[in-house]
Amino acid sequence: MEESGVRQALELRFREYARSFAPPGEEPPRPNTLKLEHTFDVCALMDRIICGEPVFAPEQYFPAWLCALFHDVSRFEQYRDYRTFRDDKSFDHGKRSAEIFLRDFAVPGLPAEERRRVASAVEFHNKPKLPDSLAPEILPLARAVRDADKLSIMKLLNRHFKRPLFSREEAVNLGMPDTPGFTEELAAIALRGEPVKHSMMKNVNDFKITVFGWTSDVNFSVSARFLLEGNYYGELRSFLPESALLDELYEVSVGRLRILAEGREVPESCRS
Ligand SMILES: [Fe+2]
Repeated sequence: MEESGVRQALELRFREYARSFAPPGEEPPRPNTLKLEHTFDVCALMDRIICGEPVFAPEQYFPAWLCALFHDVSRFEQYRDYRTFRDDKSFDHGKRSAEIFLRDFAVPGLPAEERRRVASAVEFHNKPKLPDSLAPEILPLARAVRDADKLSIMKLLNRHFKRPLFSREEAVNLGMPDTPGFTEELAAIALRGEPVKHSMMKNVNDFKITVFGWTSDVNFSVSARFLLEGNYYGELRSFLPESALLDELYEVSVGRLRILAEGREVPESCRS
């Protein structure tokens, strides 16, 4: 089968798989629909990133697309069984997604070694940092799926904060009460570009601040340009309270992206 035919068939199977988590005779729950939209958005963003980055040869496009398609495949099971997308209250959704991909989705013509690389990139897409021990041949795919995921979440967040996509109940399920103020200690961690533990986040503002810290884990210049050109961090800043610390966080975060967008090596001090 041609690669485009394999893509179409897998996309169809994926949609059927997602659909199977809706209660019989009912529409899928809204969080499932949002995850499905997110998945296909990550697929499109992945294509954009890898086509714009010379480190990826054309034979990498299909494995990269697979990483995007399957990175969150366990989310449907997670929401059905735990009514949350919080891994700390359910399971590690990266690890479970890799397991589901390997167990339930055959990919005609995909060599076993490539299949393992896709599963690894899926497994590690949600970890605070990629482990130093990760095999070098997995790194580009693992980095690309993390970038595509972040870009899609940024789009979703900015949409949500302009006009809420989630009901209050769903927002609580995500573990984020929408109360005033923010945690200064958490902002300081994001300023240093270090990952923030979910347990530190007390409200939606803390979550928004955490997202600024992601700028130290953006890997490709295409991704940085996307975030800058869409002014996603400018928008996100406008949804946070007045604060000199948060102004500084915005400047430092955008500075990291500018360095990456211009293709300059991001100094170690700016990355973390
Ligand atoms: Fe994910």
